[in-house]
Amino acid sequence: EWTMAEFRKTKIAEIREQVGSSRVICGLSGGVDSAVAAVLIHEAIGDQLTCVFVDHGLMRMGEAEQVVSLFRNHYNIPLVHKDVSALFLGGLAGVTDPEAKRKFIGKTFIDVFEAEAKQVGGADFLAQGTLYPDVIESVSFTGGPSVTIKSHHNVGGLPERMNMKLVEPLRELFKDEVRALGRELGLPEIFVGRHPFPGPGLAIRIPGEVTRERCDILRKADAIYLEEIRNAGLYDAIWQAFAVLLPVKTVGVMGDFRTYDSVCALRAVTSTDGMTADIYPFDAGFLSRVATRIVNEVKGINRVVYDYTSKPPGTIEWE
Ligand code: XMP
Repeated sequence: EWTMAEFRKTKIAEIREQVGSSRVICGLSGGVDSAVAAVLIHEAIGDQLTCVFVDHGLMRMGEAEQVVSLFRNHYNIPLVHKDVSALFLGGLAGVTDPEAKRKFIGKTFIDVFEAEAKQVGGADFLAQGTLYPDVIESVSFTGGPSVTIKSHHNVGGLPERMNMKLVEPLRELFKDEVRALGRELGLPEIFVGRHPFPGPGLAIRIPGEVTRERCDILRKADAIYLEEIRNAGLYDAIWQAFAVLLPVKTVGVMGDFRTYDSVCALRAVTSTDGMTADIYPFDAGFLSRVATRIVNEVKGINRVVYDYTSKPPGTIEWE
């Protein structure tokens, strides 16, 4: 009988054996996976681990603060908080191709970690919260030919020049198992139960060019949507819910004035592993409440639509 308690013990032994007395650097993304990986590795090797929260400016509302407080206050695990938003947003200027965005972000993450690894006196290992579905989806789509659907930023693709080896203790796990392991490791329920959030962050939820201003607009709309979902008691019934800011402007009317602003799309899906997904069937009253709030409260958005596409044929993220 396979239990999470045993998995924890086995992995801790494996991590110690793989790493020896070397230093490990772990990038936190704000998501469950990297947090669970970091806590597990910390349990295995203590202060040989340096956790770095790379704040690329593509996080959701309040996310950076939550991660920093979880690690520093709840676990007392030292955490370097790097604000590199200027680097990421600067590099994303003018980039509109989804794969180009993903590749730039993946490469820049590695650059930041490499620099950080030098800072801590030379880390030999880079830890990542890669899961089993990330591994397969980057290689081929379920049952299909070998085609890359999306370059997941946390899988493979490390530049040749990089000398660090990977520690990926969650590589065999599915999301529900990572959550179970997180509970086993004492992560707060509010964190363990969080919806998945992709490494490239809001960049892949802003089709077209990503700017700081568009990130700010999206963050506000997304926060309203999630607040309404939580208030309606629906958060845990949904695998992932988020807003997408479209590079399309439409005409509207507010009071006596014509508006000409961006469209926001809302996405919510149910899933067990992210490999396939169904849309969440909100009732019309809920959706119109969210749409009204977003248009009234978020400057820059004057229209809200709901994405009715399952996966396949759609993917969960828009890019
Ligand atoms: P898609 O959009 O491919 O997403 O249907 C499936 C699941 O994976 C998440 N996702 C990512 N997670 N790095 C990650 O850590 C990535 O580059 C990435 N791309 C997508 C997505 O949010 C969904 O949960």
